[in-house]
Amino acid sequence: MAALLLFLACVVGTQYFTILEAQDPSQLSLDYYSKSCPAAEHIVRQEMECAVRQNPRNAAIILRLHFHDCFVQGCDGSVLLDDTATLIGEKQADQNANSLKGFDLIDKIKVKLEAECPKVVSCADLLAIAARDAVILVGGPYWDVPVGRLDSKTASLEKANIDIPTPKQGLFTLISKFLVKGLSITDMVALVGSHTIGVSRCVNFRERIYGNFQLTSKFAPASEIYLTKLKETCPMEGRDDNISPMDYITPIVFDNAFFGSLLRGDGLLNSDQKLTSLIGFQTTNLVIKYWADPIAFFKQFSDSMVKMGNITNPEGGEVRKNCRFVNT
Ligand code: HEM
Repeated sequence: MAALLLFLACVVGTQYFTILEAQDPSQLSLDYYSKSCPAAEHIVRQEMECAVRQNPRNAAIILRLHFHDCFVQGCDGSVLLDDTATLIGEKQADQNANSLKGFDLIDKIKVKLEAECPKVVSCADLLAIAARDAVILVGGPYWDVPVGRLDSKTASLEKANIDIPTPKQGLFTLISKFLVKGLSITDMVALVGSHTIGVSRCVNFRERIYGNFQLTSKFAPASEIYLTKLKETCPMEGRDDNISPMDYITPIVFDNAFFGSLLRGDGLLNSDQKLTSLIGFQTTNLVIKYWADPIAFFKQFSDSMVKMGNITNPEGGEVRKNCRFVNT
């Protein structure tokens, strides 16, 4: 048996070999593609550079896509699967429908990767590398991305509806959603710092601007103009898909201004503003820390992104040819 396995490893290569195995995070490594696809990271970076230059929002879009991938079954590309006759994907989940974007960009990068090294680089790895590049390209920190993830053969609409945090949830629920994924309160606050880029739709911040401020806090008095503008963008009824940046100070730069806004009471999402609520003394202290010390924020953000990226799907999987479909 051992001789047969060795023979197979030599003939078909280790890439195909791992397909048979269940996945454990310790299998991820920095040099996984160093022989099988040395150009992989370069290809992803080039495509991300073009996309972010064309529209900086693409950075936010890809970062969020990676988060929504990792929170459902682990970082296994399940979020990228289309609905088919035999598979129900996650794209119609409450927090994803009409909201997640970037699937065409992922397809474009995958086509380039397949042309260079067919069936070698998983969609889940593509997304993890692209998310890292997204952050750097808008001024954020660099981190090495451990790779070797496999793409799932399944998706879970149900888990997507349960596991992905929503802006309406209370602080303890939000914290517990991170804890069950192995992410601490420190990881959560740093990762929510992603809201330093990107936008929210009106439907997700209406309650915050018209609602009961006792649940969170009033917008800073100096922010009357900001609040008026938000109400113009987002009336009491209708225009649900109108958008506003979550960090109105530096909306397309990955920096720590978002934390400053929270401390003033100018968080756009209820869930963001709750980080500084009275019950959240630990989260408040972290917000204060990351506002005072951008280097500490960048360091923690990088570490937490690696931690989130290491949530693997124990079921294992395959390297998809097309990120939207399981291989036939
Ligand atoms: C407490 C946890 C979180 C909640 C409740 C939350 C909620 C949201 C909501 C409601 C939006 C706006 C979506 C829309 O209106 O269509 C959003 C956008 C975004 N989120 Fe989060 N999020 C959380 C954590 C995270 C984490 C951990 C990351 C990344 C690691 C992240 C990255 C982003 C990004 C980059 C955007 C902007 C996307 C764009 O511009 O298209 N979020 N989030």
